[in-house]
Amino acid sequence: MCGIFGLISNKNLNIGKIALDGIKRLEYRGYDSCGVAFQNGKNFDVKKVSGKIEALQEKYSLNSLSGSLAIAHTRWATHGAPTKRNSHPHTDCREEIALVHNGIIENFIELKEELISKGHTFKSETDTEILPHLIEDYLGQGFSFKEAVVRTLKRCKGAYGIAVCYAKEPDSMIVARKESPIVIGVDKGATSYCASDIPALLPHTRSCYILNDDELAILKAGEVEFFSVNNANKKIKKKPEYIKWSVDDARKNGYDHFMLKEIFDEPDALRNTLKIPDNEFKNFAQELVKANQIYITAAGTSYYASLAGKYMITRFLGKFIQNIECSEFQNRLSGALERNSVIIAVSQSGETADTIEAVRWAKEAQPDIKILSITNVVGSSLTRYSDHYIVTRAGPEIGVASTKTYVTQVLSLGLIALEVAKLKKSKPSEDIQKYYDALTSTPDIIEEFLDKNVNSIRAFVKNLEKNLNYFFLGRGISIATAKEGGLKLKEVACRFIEGYSAAHAKHGPISLVREGFPIIFIAPPDETYKRLVGNVMEFKSRGGYIISVVVESDKKVTDLSDVTIRIPQPSTRYYNLFSPITFIPALQILSYFAALEHGLDPDKPLNLAKTVTVH
Ligand code: M6R
Repeated sequence: MCGIFGLISNKNLNIGKIALDGIKRLEYRGYDSCGVAFQNGKNFDVKKVSGKIEALQEKYSLNSLSGSLAIAHTRWATHGAPTKRNSHPHTDCREEIALVHNGIIENFIELKEELISKGHTFKSETDTEILPHLIEDYLGQGFSFKEAVVRTLKRCKGAYGIAVCYAKEPDSMIVARKESPIVIGVDKGATSYCASDIPALLPHTRSCYILNDDELAILKAGEVEFFSVNNANKKIKKKPEYIKWSVDDARKNGYDHFMLKEIFDEPDALRNTLKIPDNEFKNFAQELVKANQIYITAAGTSYYASLAGKYMITRFLGKFIQNIECSEFQNRLSGALERNSVIIAVSQSGETADTIEAVRWAKEAQPDIKILSITNVVGSSLTRYSDHYIVTRAGPEIGVASTKTYVTQVLSLGLIALEVAKLKKSKPSEDIQKYYDALTSTPDIIEEFLDKNVNSIRAFVKNLEKNLNYFFLGRGISIATAKEGGLKLKEVACRFIEGYSAAHAKHGPISLVREGFPIIFIAPPDETYKRLVGNVMEFKSRGGYIISVVVESDKKVTDLSDVTIRIPQPSTRYYNLFSPITFIPALQILSYFAALEHGLDPDKPLNLAKTVTVH
């Protein structure tokens, strides 16, 4: 949602440049306004703009500023428009407290009324601004800085990741978290850093502390101490985690955009995810085999990964699995959640508010329920609510549109499916081995595809430039691919698409088809292929412009198509089951070039943020 970055040092640093670089690395979390506060010896210089970080630098020439304490913020507006006034840092009445926040304080209206009645003056429409004023109020009652922050946090309902400084205690900074991530890095004896995510710390340190919910840390120059918000007198011992990601992993690596880089990262992301120990997938499989009811829940791209996963797992498990969008989970299952059920929650960030709420609600409603989660972020909130979790090894994904994390999610679900097959002995072991071989060859298939096809996709996308509407159609497991491919085009190229079942499309959507209307068919040669050929004919005969994604040996759909994108994979059932992994890069690449054709930035789709922490 928002990105926060802070540092405190005993050196006179190039603080403006470091602070802006810190939030720049977090821009994927939100980029509609930004700001920074620096210690100026007396209190704080606060500089903010509505707009991107470049605008902040341009307006105030912060790159040349030196100092030893700063907090910075890049925002995705929730409460209050993305204006300069509403951007962070926020301050108290005396401007002695400066604070940046990620999350939402749900009871801010009551707290604001209380503070106004005590004489506090507010400058913004945000929920965040109550925090510096409440801290000011407790300081006024004689509490220490730490105690004032603790008391403030205990009054707040909702989510927060905060970094706060107090002008009268310039040698410390307090950070705290509840349901919004905070990581801390320490360059011993010199400088301490905090951020919403690891890429912002990597230029400074690889050793990171991950703050848990209801924890608070006091950062001093080159040192840190941890406490529980609920028992702030007692120190907590925490061990740092060593982060192996290279700094370049979090950068573009020579590609024009993160989206393109991250699509090209997919073979490695898959290979790394294949290295996760088998027992992690086996733990999931054991729970699934025992379960009465099974649900998969997620949002957006993760939801479409879960649609593909459901097909794969059902094939070997022989039990019905229900996909439910996380935002509808509680509505659909109130009073109907049975004992001995299992929920698989899929979330790239592990912080999506609706996904977290679904699993928390389920655990409260039925305490013996098992939560199994798949995420890409170590230490994310979702992992803490889970009985078992798998952390995919896609590495940091900066582009707002999920690409490499999608393929690793589907791969993980495929590996769970194969563990289920082994446990249930639902297929002969030679068959399971063939499925396994097909799944482990997905990185090579994608690598070969990207090597051979990118330029030809770019060329035909040019001809599609005028089209505003598209259908993405498939049958069976390819409905997941159609929906996810369509979501990519919608997100990054701002086209209207309908991602639909090819069979169901003749019950209404087909009436939209006119001469030249583009329809993208996902056509692996699986058990749905014959009937899909019929669907292609239906659309072709009404003037549709047919673009199909097929395997290299394809003939029938190819003959009916105006354009084909050919995936270099054998046409056997073992490979077809994993076509959601091998077919999706074609659609991601198509969407990427379509965004460029329309003059849009594929890394920053309009109105979207990478992590959605509001309901
Ligand atoms: O972090 P999550 O996987 O839980 O995020 C869910 C969706 O917000 C996310 O997949 C969104 O749809 C992406 N922008 C898709 O590219």
